[in-house]
Amino acid sequence: MAKILTGIQSTGTPHLGNILGAIIPAIDMANSSNEESYLFIANMHSLTQIKDLNILNENTFSTAATWLSFGLDPKKSCFFRQSDVPEVTELAWYLSCFFPYQRLKLAHSFKDKADNLKDVNSGLFSYPMLMSADILMYDANIVPVGKDQLQHLEMTRDVATRFNNLMGDTFVIPEAKIQNDTKYIIGTDGEKMSKSKSNIIDIFQDDKKLRKQIMKIQTQSLSVEEPKDPDQCNVFKLFKVIASDEDAKKLHSRYTNGGMGYGEAKELLYNHTLSRFSKNRELFFELNSNRDKVEQLLLEGALKARKQAQNVLKRVRARVGF
Ligand code: ADP
Ligand code: TRP
Repeated sequence: MAKILTGIQSTGTPHLGNILGAIIPAIDMANSSNEESYLFIANMHSLTQIKDLNILNENTFSTAATWLSFGLDPKKSCFFRQSDVPEVTELAWYLSCFFPYQRLKLAHSFKDKADNLKDVNSGLFSYPMLMSADILMYDANIVPVGKDQLQHLEMTRDVATRFNNLMGDTFVIPEAKIQNDTKYIIGTDGEKMSKSKSNIIDIFQDDKKLRKQIMKIQTQSLSVEEPKDPDQCNVFKLFKVIASDEDAKKLHSRYTNGGMGYGEAKELLYNHTLSRFSKNRELFFELNSNRDKVEQLLLEGALKARKQAQNVLKRVRARVGF
């Protein structure tokens, strides 16, 4: 049986890409596993980029509420906030002492961030060691992540193996489970949807703002009458991932027949977005007006997580002679 673990950074309200590409698949996997899963909010990782505590806490809340509104079951999964398990930073230190600097220097994600961010702090650089600690702390077997995290997983396996070889068998070697093998969800500009670009669709906004975001989707400029190629259209690409196959088929032929403008296609996408996510939105808004409940769940999760973390840390401390 496999123990599943994954984390998500709380750098903003999760967008449609995060939800479809990472959150729903991780929850499905956790809910169908017989073992307890570990799903957590990586708010200490977010500190590498966000220094405003109100924003940090707001993001943590909205990330937690998103997971819960998409069916995360806190009874089945240990659901917690990274910073509530401070043991993880101690483990990150031990791991850092077993991982070559020259190897850490090769991290793509650091290079990408260093090229794009003003604040290139050393937390950004040692990010993969904290992530390795997140994983090794709970003896995780399977780690569902996006392709972009694969190198971090390789580093985790590497540092765990180095430690085991040098100090004796201590860590479980985890495996990555790649999510969104298929294509990324595109944003309103047709590029990969990403928090760092202003192309996201945030389904937890009020109706008016959500509609505005959808109306912003870039399209070609063809007249209503002209037949259109649905596979070249950003609106259709998004419709396809949200609507049923049958509705997508219907819209496909409306594109190719001509007689439908982009405005109407966007309106359809908006209505389908509202109906597909109506239950999740309702739950999210409910949690928003009952934030203590979310806080309580996270604290209960941390209590469980800490027990396991302390066990593993004991094992590691014994190995290093502390
Ligand atoms: P962002 O690019 O918005 O900063 P993150 O890098 O924090 O998103 O990604 C969090 C998770 O969501 C990762 O597992 C990533 O693979 C997934 N993800 C992010 N953007 C998309 C997207 N456009 N389509 C599918 N999955 C995505
Ligand atoms: N770095 C991951 C991301 O940006 C988030 C993360 C932190 C994570 N710790 C983790 C993912 C442990 C999986 C396992 O998406």
